[in-house]
Amino acid sequence: MCGIVGYIGNRQAYPILLDGLRRLEYRGYDSAGLVVEKGNTVTRVRVQGKVAELAKKVGAQVLEGFCGIAHTRWATHGVPGEVNAHPHCDEEQDVFVVHNGIVENHELIKRELQQEGCKFASETDTEVIPHLIKKFLTEGASLEVAVGKALKLIKGTYAVLVIAKSDPGKIVAARQSSPLRLGIAEKEFIIASDPSAIVSHTKKIITLADGELAVINKDGYVISELQSDTIIDKKLEEIEWDMSEAEKGEYEHFMLKEIFEQPEAVKNSLRGRLLFDEGMAVLGGLKQVEDKLRKLKRLHLIACGTAYHAALVGEYMLEEYAGLSTEVCVASEFRYRKTILDPETEAVLVLSQSGETADTLAAVKEAKQKGVLTLGIVNAVGSTIAQETDAGVYNHVGPEIGVASTKAFTSQLTVLALLTIFLGRQRDMSLVMGKRIAEELRALPVKLEKVLAQSERIREIAQYYIKTTNFYYIGRKYNFPVALEGALKLKEISYIHAEGGPAGELKHGPLAMIDKNFPIMAIVPQDSVYEKNLSNLAEVKARNGRIIVLATEGDSEITKLAEEVIFIPKTLEMLTPILSVIPLQLFAYYVAVLLSKDVDKPRNLAKSVTVE
Ligand code: M6R
Repeated sequence: MCGIVGYIGNRQAYPILLDGLRRLEYRGYDSAGLVVEKGNTVTRVRVQGKVAELAKKVGAQVLEGFCGIAHTRWATHGVPGEVNAHPHCDEEQDVFVVHNGIVENHELIKRELQQEGCKFASETDTEVIPHLIKKFLTEGASLEVAVGKALKLIKGTYAVLVIAKSDPGKIVAARQSSPLRLGIAEKEFIIASDPSAIVSHTKKIITLADGELAVINKDGYVISELQSDTIIDKKLEEIEWDMSEAEKGEYEHFMLKEIFEQPEAVKNSLRGRLLFDEGMAVLGGLKQVEDKLRKLKRLHLIACGTAYHAALVGEYMLEEYAGLSTEVCVASEFRYRKTILDPETEAVLVLSQSGETADTLAAVKEAKQKGVLTLGIVNAVGSTIAQETDAGVYNHVGPEIGVASTKAFTSQLTVLALLTIFLGRQRDMSLVMGKRIAEELRALPVKLEKVLAQSERIREIAQYYIKTTNFYYIGRKYNFPVALEGALKLKEISYIHAEGGPAGELKHGPLAMIDKNFPIMAIVPQDSVYEKNLSNLAEVKARNGRIIVLATEGDSEITKLAEEVIFIPKTLEMLTPILSVIPLQLFAYYVAVLLSKDVDKPRNLAKSVTVE
């Protein structure tokens, strides 16, 4: 939920830290701060607000130094404000810490430290860390030993970067359940929450694992196990990212760029994974568990937010075409259920764009504990969930920066369709059906371009609705989860109240809200539930409700029922969500832009939800 970055090397740290913070800002943006070290002096600057405010505050001030750490915050403990902004330090301003995660036992530690005379300056959980480190430094420990001792007392999650005035030229870093990557360049090191802050300097990285501690100076680094102090020889990875993937380019917002990237994203998720003649999907990441998958009787799909909506679509796909009993659970609730899992015949499949979502990760851990096979559909290569699951499939759609998830969703649906072919062909799916789905998948990118070509018209429709305060989204079967997703997109970036639900449920309650001021967004392609959806539209019409409908190209019938119609090309019913979600993403985007909202960084949210 927060972004952290540190630099040590031969260049001035400040511009590198600031650039890193700008790239990590999607992770949290209610306050920001940094510390730059020059010999035995350090300068700390912190602000409430975004990274631009931090740059403004530094202004013409010369912040010199070759080492520093920085933070962009999404508040958990303590209101967003300068005193709660990181880096935090001890009373003597010797030890400085940036932290992403939550110290769950901070109250207890704080009380004990206060009894020893320690004074706290902030309301944060983080502040106990520099105080603890300072205590151990005073007792004679080196910085790395003091950090290790302090972290052993902490319960919770963390990625931390620490510097100390009394031990200059060194960054100590450690992680437990929050991501941390170390970028290695020529005599310089950048350590950050994610590669976007690293790739412009080097593509060589090391991913720190849980329980590892790194000591970095300008000449090198040593990584060891926090508990045993054993030195570890870590593997260098080469990041695939192209820097332009993390830039907005000609687009006004990352969200718009990512919406328009979807034809390419779907192509990338499909690349090399379809055997057209055999009507089969090749999923290399599942090879090692193929036999186990053949024996599955039930699959549990678990995810949060947009990924959860993708899982709901996947449930329809897998049941209808793979003949596999499928259960979907929102990750934050999975832990409260006493789900009965049979390790012989059941598996858990989690979906996550970031691969770092705390609730989803917790579900993986819970499933593993129960001895069940864990699988992942993950976008961020090398992320914690990708590493924790037994096997999985990468989305391969490049970084998604906009907080509102778009291309990850269509890619998740694409991968779920591939998985449906794969599991279906292991079971009773016919060659003809396998081939049919494969062909329809191949045709999707061109159809996506056709939908995107209507963006100007969708903008005009959005303009009409900017004063609307409520929206209800409906769909059936495959497009019921799309209704949920459309409503989520609108509320999260425009702050307009929107709900989604199954069209069949309308008359069981929501219909009461409908009048001329309460519009309905209906997803009604010509599929197996088309007629039933038409009846729902008629019910809305009879209550003077205004209807925007997403329909199949050439459907002249539906235009009689709706005020606005947006057409999508015909495709296989199970793939319609990949097309029907696009106008909903664009609609939400344009409404938010026309309302002057901060589309890429909606209030109160963050891209990567690494707290529970
Ligand atoms: O990184 P993940 O896919 O695990 O994230 C899950 C949700 O936090 C995410 O989809 C969230 O709902 C998005 N902001 C929705 O646009």
